[in-house]
Amino acid sequence: MKLAVLVSGRGSNLQALIDACKADDFPAEIVLVLSNKADAYGLERAKEAGIPTAVLSHKDFEDRESFDEAMSEKITEAGAELVCLAGFMRLLSDGFVRQWRDRLINIHPSLLPAFKGLHVHERTIEEGARFSGCTVHFVRPAMDEGPIIIQAVVPVHPDDEPNDLAARILEQEHVVYPLAVKYIAEGRVRVSAERVLIEDHELPGGALSNPAN
Ligand code: GRF
Repeated sequence: MKLAVLVSGRGSNLQALIDACKADDFPAEIVLVLSNKADAYGLERAKEAGIPTAVLSHKDFEDRESFDEAMSEKITEAGAELVCLAGFMRLLSDGFVRQWRDRLINIHPSLLPAFKGLHVHERTIEEGARFSGCTVHFVRPAMDEGPIIIQAVVPVHPDDEPNDLAARILEQEHVVYPLAVKYIAEGRVRVSAERVLIEDHELPGGALSNPAN
């Protein structure tokens, strides 16, 4: 399956996807890395891996719709079948989301539907949540909403600063994002009544508590 990955910054999730795609038996390849920021480090990672890149600055467009249309064109031209948002810091127009419906996924550093939006880790710690994690989901017009494909859970530690929690979660992001792509590329993922069904996957055993004893 051909992927387009959209980034605005550091691109560590992009790197996880690049690394996953290197395995011979991984059923996907990245055909385009697109950024709205010319200085996004993700673009360097793509170049290093020999992946075509494109930069479209939203500042060069009159409105969100025309920017998104230009993105869609680039993605289509590249032959991408699945669009992966990986730290892409722009809201998408309804038209774009509709056009790529069920072919557009995002990763968010919380256990959605909790803690949508920005400053996730600050808010998680402030609320005293004992667990957080990350979510890969299909994108719908409302921000950080849409059918959930996979989640990973991490504990929140009593002395966590937002950065500590972010780093603990990021490590899991790099595991679950490629896994979600793999499931989709293998044709095992279906959206039914806005819930995701995945063929043949293992259920985790047991339960977690925090504190653990
Ligand atoms: C990640 O935490 C991701 O969950 C969020 O933005 C961050 C992007 O990080 N959507 P990176 O650019 O992939 O390193």
